[in-house]
Amino acid sequence: MTTTTPSTPEQRDDHRPSVHPGPSTPRWPRGARTIRYGGDYNPEQWPEAVWREDVALMRDAGVDLVSLGIFSWVLLEPRPGQYDFRGMDAVMDLLGDAGVDVDLGTPTAAPPAWLWDRYPDEHPVTRDGVVLGRGSRGLLSPSGPGYRAAAAAVTEQLAARYAGHPALAMWHVHNEYGAPISESYDVHSVRAFRAWLAERYGSVEALNAAWGTTFWGQRYADWAEVDAPRTAATTVNQAQRLDFARFTSDALLACYTAERDVIRQYTPDLAVTTNFMATNCPSLDYWKWAREVDVVANDHYLAAERTDNHVLLSMDADLTRSLAGGRPWMLMEHSTSAVNWQPRNLAKRPGELGRNSLAHLGRGADAVMFFQFRASRTGAEKFHSAMLPHAGADSRVWREVVGLGADLGRLAEVRDSRVPARVAVLWDWESSWAQDLEWRPSVDLRHRERTEAWYAALWRRGVTIDFRHPSHDLSAYDLVVAPASYLLRAQDGAALTRYVDGGGHLVVSFGSGLVDEHDAVHPGGFPGPLADVLGLRVEEFLPFRDGETGTLASGGTGRFWADDVVLEGAVPVDVFVDGRAAGQPAVTRNDRGTGSAWYVSTALDDGTLDAFVGDVLVAAGIAGDLLPEGVETVERVGEDTRWRFLFNHGDGAVELPDGLAAGTDVLGVLDDHGDVRVLPPGAAAVLASEV
Ligand code: GLA
Repeated sequence: MTTTTPSTPEQRDDHRPSVHPGPSTPRWPRGARTIRYGGDYNPEQWPEAVWREDVALMRDAGVDLVSLGIFSWVLLEPRPGQYDFRGMDAVMDLLGDAGVDVDLGTPTAAPPAWLWDRYPDEHPVTRDGVVLGRGSRGLLSPSGPGYRAAAAAVTEQLAARYAGHPALAMWHVHNEYGAPISESYDVHSVRAFRAWLAERYGSVEALNAAWGTTFWGQRYADWAEVDAPRTAATTVNQAQRLDFARFTSDALLACYTAERDVIRQYTPDLAVTTNFMATNCPSLDYWKWAREVDVVANDHYLAAERTDNHVLLSMDADLTRSLAGGRPWMLMEHSTSAVNWQPRNLAKRPGELGRNSLAHLGRGADAVMFFQFRASRTGAEKFHSAMLPHAGADSRVWREVVGLGADLGRLAEVRDSRVPARVAVLWDWESSWAQDLEWRPSVDLRHRERTEAWYAALWRRGVTIDFRHPSHDLSAYDLVVAPASYLLRAQDGAALTRYVDGGGHLVVSFGSGLVDEHDAVHPGGFPGPLADVLGLRVEEFLPFRDGETGTLASGGTGRFWADDVVLEGAVPVDVFVDGRAAGQPAVTRNDRGTGSAWYVSTALDDGTLDAFVGDVLVAAGIAGDLLPEGVETVERVGEDTRWRFLFNHGDGAVELPDGLAAGTDVLGVLDDHGDVRVLPPGAAAVLASEV
């Protein structure tokens, strides 16, 4: 293999998001200025008579957009190069005549059996060497030349045929890249990984240095010796695994952009996207992906058994809006009721379908779509809910679907408004890839767990946040929270320091700033590039036993972790009074000019965290009283109108506190008792007022 000319570190570091998040060529689906409403539509599973019934029902419910053809490759191309568009033509015409627009899928997440037969060396291979077979869905090797060529060919046929069709509003490439296939250890992936490394490092010597291969005698003399980090005797080079995770995200992204670029030749003005799974896809760096889609689209499914699943929904929606750079985004899929793939598939209770939908809307979605329109009788997803359930149109779910369509009609003016936020929470897939590898100081050091804890504390105060990558411009925010930001590049640490020096407020939780982009400990120890701004050094980690806690001077408790801290300017705010960290600070504060930097060396219990967040918000000048339990609020702001969304996730009626109760009750769900406005249990309300 030849090596490329070494480039400068800046040129090589194309693995960083740009300063601002969001699509680089933003577009919205062509057509109606409504909150788009609909879902995946799979008519190929039904005889033609049912299609007509479906379209009539869609009109009853106000459906105006469906995602079509996502898994229909073998129907469109039954034999290699032989196409049959009769069924698709008929459905496109039927939908178009009924005024239902189409988000047309490329079918490349369902490779036909003939493709599997054609390219046996492109079957995906797991880390453990298992060669995956057909009979499910997914893709062949993301780096497989045969798969890529076939995907481009069927995409081109579709684009050429439907480019001018009146029903076509946008394109839906593939389906949920990253699931069920992400990393593949087949020969094509290994070859492509070597080329990716050569591009990134320029020389094998540079690779050896970046991966620290002197350790355990792993030095490579030639690119051909470098393998994907497949299962080995014991833990595998962690920098290598981190690079393979980066490569995998890039390889799948190349699959997406290849199809997108084919489509653009035929419909340059139509939006092209693919459906993300914002907080639930561990294998794609969506900050990079979001630049390549024209509109951010997201799939979200409740973790049914978690009692805080509505908080996780909000977090997912906030991350999606952040990926969209604050622009409206599409909720491409969620469920009307139960899914079929969790251990216990709990049905949504009356009102939950609408409450979930409006929660996404409140956080910036301008399209509300479901998987799927009509429930399947056969196949793997026959127990998955749908807009039209097996029980038919005479059912609670269908009545709620129709009711939601009407509500979205009443909320049409919300479209294109924005969701303001003064707080940013850092989110970095590369950091979580590195952090979740083996042989870390504690299994309790988890970015996801810390992020959820900090997010929930801000949510309980009705404080809206944006997620940001550490390299983004953070200057617009009054407060930045870094929850277990394990991997932090030196330049990003320096930018956070400048942010505080410029008057910003920064909260850093334990386990942050430990390693650089190659998973190497920063020179000078912990917390690396944050030591200066935090005004402290961490000499040693003090992870806890499973279940162990420590008492704090404030009366609260710390869990999971503490540090041996040397204060170098910071002042202790709370201190461990017993346990393995007795005498060590649990919370510190370092004022720099009008800015401040806080370090939290342990996982605070919820009450202590709530109080701490309250103090930090005061320091940052942000209002945020604790809301009544189970109440959620978020605001969208347009040119002349602001819409306050209010949700009661609890079982009891709630009197709205002053400051949240003003405005016109657009959906008429509040109970007004004189001056007091009451949010009924399970309700979702939208209050409109002038800006
Ligand atoms: C994903 C997929 C859909 C469907 C749903 C089921 O979101 O994109 O095709 O399988 O899950 O919940």
